[in-house]
Amino acid sequence: MAKKIRVAFIGTGGISRKHLQCITDFKDTEVAGLCDVNPDVLKERQQAFGGETFADPEKMLDTVCPDAAVLCLPPFAHGPAEMACIKRNIPFLLEKPVEKDLAAARKIAREVAKRKLITSVAYQRRYDKRIQAARKIVGDYPLTLVYGGWLGRTPHGHRWLTQKKLSGGQMIEQTTHMFDLLRFLAGDAKGVFCYGAKGFIEKSKLYNTDDATSAVIQMKSGAVATIMSSWSSTGLGVTLTFSGPGITVQCGGDCQVQLAGKEEPEKLPESGNVNEAQERAFIDAVKTGDRSPIMCDYADGVKSLQISAAANESLETGKPVAIR
Ligand SMILES: NC(=O)c1ccc[n+]([C@@H]2O[C@H](COP(=O)([O-])OP(=O)(O)OC[C@H]3O[C@@H](n4cnc5c(N)ncnc54)[C@H](O)[C@@H]3O)[C@@H](O)[C@H]2O)c1
Repeated sequence: MAKKIRVAFIGTGGISRKHLQCITDFKDTEVAGLCDVNPDVLKERQQAFGGETFADPEKMLDTVCPDAAVLCLPPFAHGPAEMACIKRNIPFLLEKPVEKDLAAARKIAREVAKRKLITSVAYQRRYDKRIQAARKIVGDYPLTLVYGGWLGRTPHGHRWLTQKKLSGGQMIEQTTHMFDLLRFLAGDAKGVFCYGAKGFIEKSKLYNTDDATSAVIQMKSGAVATIMSSWSSTGLGVTLTFSGPGITVQCGGDCQVQLAGKEEPEKLPESGNVNEAQERAFIDAVKTGDRSPIMCDYADGVKSLQISAAANESLETGKPVAIR
C-alpha cells in the first residue's frame, strides 16, 4: 500500500476538529502530531484522533517529520508556526485570517514565495459548488454593486475574539470571509472607506472592539461594494449579493441567480462538502505537486486580509485607504 501522507496540527481548538475529521476519514492520510499550548485540549483531541502530542511546534515538526501541517491558530498566534514549517519546507494549510497584521503576513508571504511552498488558506466557501457556479455565471456580466455582510449577536465563545488587539476585530476575523468572496467573484479592490459604531455594547476586558462597521469598497472593475459587520444585532445574517444591469446573484441561505428577462430566479446546485473538498485539494497538491486544485494560497489570502486591514485603518484615520 502507498505511504500515507502524515499531517501535523498546530492549534487544536474548536475548528481543528473539522480538519482532523477529514484527515482521519481520508484513506491516504493520517494524523502524525498535535501541538497546542493548552494540555486539556490536546488530550481531548488525542483521545479522539490519535497522534503524538507536543507543546512546541518546532519540537513536533522535528520529531514526527510530517509531510504537511494544518495550522488552526487564533489571529494573534500566527508567525512562529508558519516560519517553523517554511524553514523545514513543510506545506501548510492554515485557517483564515492568515494574520491580524498585514506587514507580518507579507513577510511570511515573501518566505513562502522564496521556497515555492504549497500553502492553502481555509476560505472554504470558495469550494462551495454554488459559489463556483455563481462565479462562472457572474463572469459573463458586468457588476455594478455588491452588498452584504456578517451580522450577529455579541459572541462569547472565545476570550480572544472580541478583544481587538488579539483578533484584529470582526472585519479581520469573521467578515474576512465576505471580503474574500467579494474578491473571488468580483475581482480585486482599489480602495476602502469605513465608518464604525462603538460604545453601544458595554466595554470590558473581554469586549473592546467595534460594535458595527460599514465598509465601502471601490473595486478595480469600477463596481462598488458595501460590506457590513455587526456584533450588536439580534439575528444572524451572513449574505452577499452581487448585482449589475443583467444579473443579481444572492449568496447566503438559498443561493440563486436572477437574470434580466427571466421570470424566475435560478437556484444554484448543492454546496457539496466544502471542508472535505478543501482538505482533499490540499492533500492532493502535497501528493502530486500540482497546486491547481487549491482555491486560495497564502498570497491570495494576504490580498483578502488587505481589504479588512485597510478598512480598520480607515476607521482609525477617518480617511479612504488605497489598496495596492
Ligand atoms: N474557516 C472557518 O469557517 C473557521 C471557523 C472557525 C474558526 N476559524 C478560524 O480558526 C482559527 C482558530 O479558531 P478556533 O475556533 O479553533 O479557536 P480556538 O480558540 O478554539 O482554538 C485555538 C487553539 O490554538 C491554541 N493556541 C494558541 N496559541 C498557540 C500557539 N502559539 N501554539 C499552539 N497552539 C496555540 C489554543 O490553545 C487553542 O486551543 C481562527 O483564526 C478562526 O477565525 C475558521
